[in-house]
Amino acid sequence: MQPADSQPKKVLILYYSLSAQTSGLVHRLGAGLEAQGVQLACERLQPLVPRHFPIGTVPATLFLMFVTFLRTRMPIQPLSPICGEHYDLIVLAGPTWSYNPSGPVLSLLDRDGVRLFAGQQVLPLISCRGYWRMHWLSLRWQLARCGAMVVGRMIFAHPSKEPWRTIGVFLKLAGRVPERGRWLGRHYPRYGHSREQQDQAFTCGQAIGQALKRGSSLADLSFVAGPGQGSA
Ligand SMILES: Cc1cc2nc3c(=O)[nH]c(=O)nc-3n(C[C@H](O)[C@H](O)[C@H](O)COP(=O)(O)O)c2cc1C
Repeated sequence: MQPADSQPKKVLILYYSLSAQTSGLVHRLGAGLEAQGVQLACERLQPLVPRHFPIGTVPATLFLMFVTFLRTRMPIQPLSPICGEHYDLIVLAGPTWSYNPSGPVLSLLDRDGVRLFAGQQVLPLISCRGYWRMHWLSLRWQLARCGAMVVGRMIFAHPSKEPWRTIGVFLKLAGRVPERGRWLGRHYPRYGHSREQQDQAFTCGQAIGQALKRGSSLADLSFVAGPGQGSA
């Protein structure tokens, strides 16, 4: 029989993503973990009523922003059985919605939070336009209430500068293509995270894999990526 230390470390990435930004980051993070020999499981939260990106119209976008500001839950499908296994670390990843965790993540915490996270090392990953602090504080509080050991944080903010970033994200959600606008496109070249941030997610996955193998703290790996270290 092999000694316990030579067993591969196991990581579960639980995530939700509407516009493919979190999913892009977690796939690179997962690749970095696997490059270090980590055994990876990935579970995407699936809302019972599927949501589509872009939302499509200005009124529908404003409406979703309003209901998400009220922390409205978005019920999700049952999790697959892989989520019931033991993991050395769970990464909980998702976007900021109106200064809060997204509706599917709130539903997950309500329904499965204690069962999944009690006594577990949990590392949240946040993908946002730039305003993540309230989301981070409430997520950390909710995870602690479920009995989780929150071991750090990975924050990715869109790299574009304000005010173009806010205008660009809103127009993108509403179904426009701001990056192709003759004037706006000069200030807002793309929606979402950059290639550099995706590479950073890969490096971060490698660093987490190494730390798990060494048995060292993950807290030193916390970081905020992007210009938008907004205070909200
Ligand atoms: C309804 C809604 C509300 C949002 N509110 C915020 C916000 O309060 N702060 C922020 O920084 N980004 C906000 N965003 C932008 C997303 O967090 C950002 O685009 C993120 O990268 C999307 O990740 P995803 O593609 O994985 O869903 C919001 C997006 C949506 C759809």
